[in-house]
Amino acid sequence: MKIVMLGAPGAGKGTQAKMIAAKYQIPHISTGDIFRANIKNGTELGKKAKSYMDQGLLVPDELTVDLVIDRLAQDDCKNGYILDGFPRTIPQAEALDAALEKLGEKMDYAIDVDVPDENIVSRMSGRRACTGCGATYHIVYNPSKKGEYCEVCGEKLILRDDDKPETVQKRLNVYHDQTQPLIDYYTKQSILRTVDGTQDMNDVFAEIAKILGA
Ligand code: AP5
Repeated sequence: MKIVMLGAPGAGKGTQAKMIAAKYQIPHISTGDIFRANIKNGTELGKKAKSYMDQGLLVPDELTVDLVIDRLAQDDCKNGYILDGFPRTIPQAEALDAALEKLGEKMDYAIDVDVPDENIVSRMSGRRACTGCGATYHIVYNPSKKGEYCEVCGEKLILRDDDKPETVQKRLNVYHDQTQPLIDYYTKQSILRTVDGTQDMNDVFAEIAKILGA
């Protein structure tokens, strides 16, 4: 099963993608996580990506597309995968489709987690991310049982640099401008499914699981 997760920053794509990956035993591929790992490791890609991410801008397609296409060629993707944060522009979606077509494959579902802008800023300011394993929490909706430390690996939790309110607003503008057109793109392919992302996260997941089947 090959799935693309769509939705505004903070809509809950990552939260749902991790739950789907666990239930369906497919890899969760998050371009945001890949860039953050590169930033943490001080790679050239990380340095370039950070300069865009800190401003709430997209990392250029030429730094993003090959990275994902190469990742999809790895063995663990044979039975499918869930893409979280990619594609984010029409050229990225076209490059993905072209790569799949070469293999005689196609995307099965694009799931749009729909959350209005009004809910996003408060969600983001409450998000806490693990500096070790990338797990995410929310101080109100999904707090860590270990307070300021990660339940999974014990590392310190932080507010991401790009989750500050002024950067979140910029990311929302970029989303509406460059990513939202993908809703039409996947509607035309008849694979778009929209779920109400304002519900409790387990209810959002139940809706997605119904779409994907048992
Ligand atoms: P990325 O990491 O992909 O960020 P994003 O898309 O902005 O999404 P987020 O991770 O912020 O949110 P999410 O939807 O996953 O929400 P989450 O589940 O964490 O990208 C970061 C940056 O990298 C981009 O800005 C860009 O610069 C660059 N980048 C990445 N991919 C790129 C690409 N393809 N091309 C170019 N540049 C790229 O949930 C948010 C919070 O809400 C959490 O605290 C969570 O606990 C909570 N929550 C989740 N669901 C619920 C719910 N139902 N109710 C209440 N709270 C909830």
